[in-house]
Amino acid sequence: MRMFSPMIVGLLAVAGSVVDAPHAAPSGAFEPIASVVMHPRCINCHQDQSPRQGDAGTVHLPLVVRGKDGHGAPTQPCQTCHQTTNTADGFVPGVEDWHLAPLSMLWEGRSKEQICEQMKDPARNGGRRTGEQVIEHMKTDPLVLWAWVPGRRTIPPLSHEKFVEALETWVKAGMPCR
Ligand code: HEC
Ligand code: HEC
Repeated sequence: MRMFSPMIVGLLAVAGSVVDAPHAAPSGAFEPIASVVMHPRCINCHQDQSPRQGDAGTVHLPLVVRGKDGHGAPTQPCQTCHQTTNTADGFVPGVEDWHLAPLSMLWEGRSKEQICEQMKDPARNGGRRTGEQVIEHMKTDPLVLWAWVPGRRTIPPLSHEKFVEALETWVKAGMPCR
């Protein structure tokens, strides 16, 4: 019995991840995904207590806070200014239910590998368990799609179509983070 215990420990170690990386050699499959998720259009919302603005990621003016559910303080919710579409001049971004990503999905200041691990972890990705569930949000969510129609702002380096292809390739490869 005793000689089997290291194996049991090994099994327990992988049980927590969605899919375990099958090999050690860097696959690079997360690289194109990182180029999008670390782009200011995404990361400006995946922040700590306050969103950021512009490609330089400066603190949001006026200063707004997360509030209890990411929608801002009761006296100044995001929806005061962020409507369901961008303003006609493209200055104020708008998508229905515009709000900050939950703290468990904080990406600011994290490395590619850390963001990748976080994305796969059901405790920090909104309970998404399978590869398909993990990438579904990025294929269809209006807040994600906004990054490609952001008004007077730059867009991520890949088209949304290429981004989806990269996500599917990553899932097929077992969601490696290196
Ligand atoms: C307006 C703010 C906003 C923008 C812009 C935004 N997000 Fe999010 N993001 C959110 C919110 C809010 C959630 C939580 C929604 C949920 O869990 O259903 C979220 C959740 C996520 C999740 C799920 C959590 C996870 O780690 O699996 C992913 C992935 C994600 N966003 C990717 C992106 C990408 C990629 C972009 C840019 C192309 C982006 N987001 C742009 C607000 C934003
Ligand atoms: C008083 C009005 C106002 C409120 C309230 C407000 N915003 Fe903004 N927000 C703006 C304006 C105006 C801009 C455009 C400024 C610019 O791009 O220079 C902006 C830009 C942004 C951007 C930048 C997009 C990008 O990638 O450059 C994000 C992210 C953002 N707001 C998130 C939020 C969130 C989340 C809330 C609620 C917690 C919120 N805002 C509340 C007025 C507001």
